[in-house]
Amino acid sequence: MCGIVGFVGHHQAAPILLDGLSKLEYRGYDSAGIAIYGDNGVEIEKVKGRLQGLIDKTDNGRTMPGTLGIGHTRWATHGEPTEDNAHPHISYHEEVVGVHNGIIENYLELKGKLLRHGYQFYSETDTEIAINLIEYYLDKYKMGPIHAIAHAMVRIRGSYALAIMFKSEPGKVYAARKDSPLILGLKDGESYIASDVPAIIKYTSDVYYIDNTEIACCDKNGVSFYNIDEERIDKDIVHVDMDPKAAEKGGYPHFMLREIYEEPKAVEDTLNSALNEDGSIRLETIGLTKEQLKGLDNIYIAACGSAYHAGVVGQYVIEDLAGVPVRIELASEFRYRKLPYASNSLLIVVSQSGETADTLAALRLAKEAGIPTLAIVNVLGSSIAREADHVFYTLAGPEIAVATTKAYSAQLICLYLFALALASAKGKIEEKKAKEYIDMLKALPSQIEETLKKNKTFLNRLANRRANMPYSFFIGRGIDYAVGLEGSLKLKEISYIHSEAYAAGELKHGTISLIEGDTLVVSILTQPELLEKTLSNMKEVQSRGATLLSIDMSNHPIVRATSKFLVSIPKTDPHFSASLSVIPLQLFAYFVSVAKGLDVDKPRNLAKSVTVE
Ligand code: AGP
Repeated sequence: MCGIVGFVGHHQAAPILLDGLSKLEYRGYDSAGIAIYGDNGVEIEKVKGRLQGLIDKTDNGRTMPGTLGIGHTRWATHGEPTEDNAHPHISYHEEVVGVHNGIIENYLELKGKLLRHGYQFYSETDTEIAINLIEYYLDKYKMGPIHAIAHAMVRIRGSYALAIMFKSEPGKVYAARKDSPLILGLKDGESYIASDVPAIIKYTSDVYYIDNTEIACCDKNGVSFYNIDEERIDKDIVHVDMDPKAAEKGGYPHFMLREIYEEPKAVEDTLNSALNEDGSIRLETIGLTKEQLKGLDNIYIAACGSAYHAGVVGQYVIEDLAGVPVRIELASEFRYRKLPYASNSLLIVVSQSGETADTLAALRLAKEAGIPTLAIVNVLGSSIAREADHVFYTLAGPEIAVATTKAYSAQLICLYLFALALASAKGKIEEKKAKEYIDMLKALPSQIEETLKKNKTFLNRLANRRANMPYSFFIGRGIDYAVGLEGSLKLKEISYIHSEAYAAGELKHGTISLIEGDTLVVSILTQPELLEKTLSNMKEVQSRGATLLSIDMSNHPIVRATSKFLVSIPKTDPHFSASLSVIPLQLFAYFVSVAKGLDVDKPRNLAKSVTVE
């Protein structure tokens, strides 16, 4: 998704904006631009393609003097990735310059209105229309920028995070948002605007979270806020406790590898955040009381991508430990279903970014229906975190690589702990058994470390040998199937090799026709009760020429005999095995992508947070 930055202060703005945009590259983009309000008015520079092109074009901003500016990395929604469509956009009468993240749903209706008033357009974007609408109201009512922005916000349907400069207002940058993420920072008389904390954490850790339909004005005196009725509102500064280095690679070749090696800490921190001194679960962290848990008869889970795959693991674990039925849906489906909610239900939404549009919509839908909501999110103050009734934070730290790893692993921990808390509240497990489970969870960080250490070299070698395979399959049953879904997505999204995850028992219902000589089939074997069944499926594909890579917790001799390649993982309770079996799959996908020379952290067409539907 697009990245927005803004700055007003006494330092040169352009280098700060370009640096901020570089910290937002992980959000995914295909063009970039900055606008600087200098002594000679507003200057705009834009490029199609990577940010480095803009850095080179402006000599890292040195050709654009000025202490006020805005910048943008664009992930194309309306209009091709071209220089004309790149942001910042300038209005027809050159009164207003702005950048935008989101989607203006009624942009054609608004364009018609503006065309009727003589406006002309140079781009295909909805953003240019929004910027001109603001200019239209500025000229029509002559009541200043706040009024013009507020009026435009009333007319616009859709989502937006806007950073705007006005020709008549040198020294000020305005911001407004609805549903797309935006934060503002402040330090020593300088103000910052950004889509996400990593863009400004280097300069300040004191931020404001602007809420929906609010407007902000940044100048050298600080930041002032207004509601859509143009009334001043007060907001508290939030101190963000993030190490600026967290937004750097820390010596690793890619953010993804750094984040894989941070998984032990992400798991440990998330686990410890929800445990009391005596090892019991701290319900306040989970956000629900024992009575609330006890009263639950149905659980819904809605999420996207890897967060959905974590939810599938959660479904198996919650149902097995707590005996409560769980229905999991892709959030993009959930939001349009006419779901007859059962009574005494809870919706759990899982999201690393806390800004995924489909997941946010699912949350809002459930709230409208009066269903209590619990969010498992990784970003403090994100939209989903702020709108859910209860929040259980993953403590994975900022995750920069588009392909999630440590946040997924931390989401699993939250789901395990929720399952254990629910099972305890329902009287399904005794305190002693709950403590045994917690002890197994406490061992996971070191077991993840062990898995990484033991298998990195082998997986790198295998990945290099398999980097040009045309496709691959992942098979498993139960929780192993859920992990296969995640392993398959990891491979697809960063190596561009097609793969499919299949419930192992499903292969013979069609897909096995695709298995041919040397097809790589990854089988995951951590569920003792299902081992024999999956072994049969492995033999089925092997007899048709497939090559088997097994991720195995059983140490069963037949697994060894049947697998051409074998990764043994440490033993843990089968409910929690996903935390270990996923690690080799993450590493394998990473090494295949590296072997293919691809942009591991920023795979083509993908964004870290999909804030549009
Ligand atoms: C995972 O590697 C992908 N980047 C993607 O599937 C992601 O999990 C999905 O878009 C959901 O994002 P969220 O967790 O921020 O809601």
